Amino acid sequence: MMSKQVWKPGNMLYPLPAVMVSCGDKEGNANIVTIAWTGTVCTNPAMLYISLRPERHSYQMIKETGEFVVNLTTKDLVYATDYCGVRSGRDVDKFKEMKLTKQKAEKLMYAPIIKESPVSIECKVVEIKELGTHHMFLAQVLAVDIDERYMDKSGKFRLNSADLMVYSHGEYFNLKEQLGTFGYSVRKKTTTKTKNKSSQNKVNLPKKELKWIRTDTKKDSVKK
Ligand SMILES: Cc1cc2nc3c(=O)[nH]c(=O)nc-3n(C[C@H](O)[C@H](O)[C@H](O)COP(=O)(O)O)c2cc1C
Repeated sequence: MMSKQVWKPGNMLYPLPAVMVSCGDKEGNANIVTIAWTGTVCTNPAMLYISLRPERHSYQMIKETGEFVVNLTTKDLVYATDYCGVRSGRDVDKFKEMKLTKQKAEKLMYAPIIKESPVSIECKVVEIKELGTHHMFLAQVLAVDIDERYMDKSGKFRLNSADLMVYSHGEYFNLKEQLGTFGYSVRKKTTTKTKNKSSQNKVNLPKKELKWIRTDTKKDSVKK
């Protein structure tokens, strides 16, 4: 039987989102930096983090204003995402080069949102943790801007129709196949043929967990 090799400590947590983080300074300059070291840390209040090397051009902007926007990326944005991760705002205007559109954020003063992204998460920094090579910007989410293209007629947000992109071990992928849904492992199986499709999809989870699912997809959570 093959055994596992034990490697020295390193980053091997994949897949991750590769997001385009937009930011701005107080003189009106804007920039985009690609970030994979990012994650959700709290549901309520909604909080996330991004980790940045202090030598990044964006680092000073975000530190100065305490603002940034996490823009989710898609198949259509993969080229721009890579470019914004290998070119610095010190040398190029990434909005211009990638033909991306700056749009005024709803709750922020300096950081713009990227119009072409399906979801832009407006964040206010609450703490900077100097961890080592990277400093972690812990932030509170102030607003979430949703592209109406992905709202269906019944008002449900179809995020998984946006062809989202992930980053895994140096490569970009899209999400091709759905393997299950939240709670499907404990969902009661229906055996009667007469049961219709909607009842087969019913999640039989404790009330508390069902509430969580609803809250997460609730329409008013995306109201501006
Ligand atoms: C897929 C990908 C993920 C990246 N993730 C991070 C990250 O999490 N933190 C970071 O500091 N730099 C990260 N980078 C590198 C920066 O995006 C890159 O150095 C960029 O050119 C900095 O731009 P700026 O100088 O305009 O801020 C990543 C790059 C790529 C391509």
